[in-house]
Amino acid sequence: MIGLNLTTLNSLLGPTGVSALAAASATGPTEAKYLVALAGLRKKFPAELSRAAIETVLLRQKAAVKFTRANAMYFSKEALEVSSGEVIARYRAERYARFDCVGDFGCGIGGDAIGLATANRTVVAIDSDPVRLRMAEENLKVYGHSGNFIVADLLTEPLPLVPAAFADPGRRSEGKRFLSLADYAPPPGELIARLPKNFPIGFKLAPGASWEDLGLFPGEVEFISVDGELKESVLWLGALRTTARRATLLTSAGSRLTMDAETVDERRDQVEIGAYLYDPEAAVNRAGLVPNLASRIDASPIDAVVQLLTAEDHRETPFAAAYRVEAVLPLDAKKISAWLRSNDVGRITAVKRGSLADTDELQSKWKLSGSKHRFVLFTRAASQQVAVIAERV
Ligand SMILES: C[S@@+](CC[C@H](N)C(=O)[O-])C[C@H]1O[C@@H](n2cnc3c(N)ncnc32)[C@H](O)[C@@H]1O
Repeated sequence: MIGLNLTTLNSLLGPTGVSALAAASATGPTEAKYLVALAGLRKKFPAELSRAAIETVLLRQKAAVKFTRANAMYFSKEALEVSSGEVIARYRAERYARFDCVGDFGCGIGGDAIGLATANRTVVAIDSDPVRLRMAEENLKVYGHSGNFIVADLLTEPLPLVPAAFADPGRRSEGKRFLSLADYAPPPGELIARLPKNFPIGFKLAPGASWEDLGLFPGEVEFISVDGELKESVLWLGALRTTARRATLLTSAGSRLTMDAETVDERRDQVEIGAYLYDPEAAVNRAGLVPNLASRIDASPIDAVVQLLTAEDHRETPFAAAYRVEAVLPLDAKKISAWLRSNDVGRITAVKRGSLADTDELQSKWKLSGSKHRFVLFTRAASQQVAVIAERV
């Protein structure tokens, strides 16, 4: 895909573009049938418009996982990939309830602006890329909203007077991902330096942003997963901060669970693996909230490094996968396969947590033929490499 310039985007938005999009859609294009679809469309429409129409239809298909109204929206490949989907954008937008108007600093194709507008905020959307900004404007219309759209460089041009803002800086360029926040576009530190002291702003950051970087800002760090996959961290500053660290689990079906850094009554001592083992969600782990989870479910750590918990009784929790332990074995391929054979296990799911084991190699050696399925958690307990054979509860 080559990407659109502003002239082509404008013609795509005009009456001929609407016809070209309808014709492109009618060809039922796929990546594999791209050239056939393009040849068909070029008989009726200019080459550039035909290409833009087919690419837009293909991107709309991909975008359906993020946007319920994707089939009327406008994207470029890269801007779609980095855009925020509806579930997460709507959740984040709720933090701005006390602000009538919110700046979306680096709005891209408008994923977050849609979330903010849907939460009834007036949106002032800024981006240095006029094509993305124009797409954002159209995409908001698809959801029945409007806003103020400004082409500007957030680092050099005057910032609009808004009472709060959200920023989603670019984290990659030419296929490379930036690890350090100082390399983001724009870098959060540089943008903050241009804002009033304690300005309420939230930054969407990578889920793996380092604590060394995050610790430079006096804010809350929230780790958000959607349908079990850790998607992002968000740095909340000024009046948007509610706690020090938070883990939030969202589902596309609409459920929301959040856990913050409430005080932990007691730090629990390490114990031997008992009847149940808990593998905390990545968001809980990244937020450093495993001790809080341990208090909630009355469980204890099994190791100083690996973040697994154990308990004699089972407590339901959405914040960890729970397992009923059947055996704890040393990391010895022969002993593990012997146990699996003698217990009629024919299929395993390997879960690796701080283990040195080459689980693929181990599994390829074992010729298991039993009728049962079990999880094997390759991990560390009291600094020893172990394999825990278990069933999911
Ligand atoms: C990750 S994207 C934002 C995606 C957006 N939140 C969404 O959901 O579609 C980052 C955006 O920041 C813009 N950007 C980067 N540096 C900028 C700067 N200095 N001034 C204005 N916009 C900038 C880029 O053009 C890009 O569209």
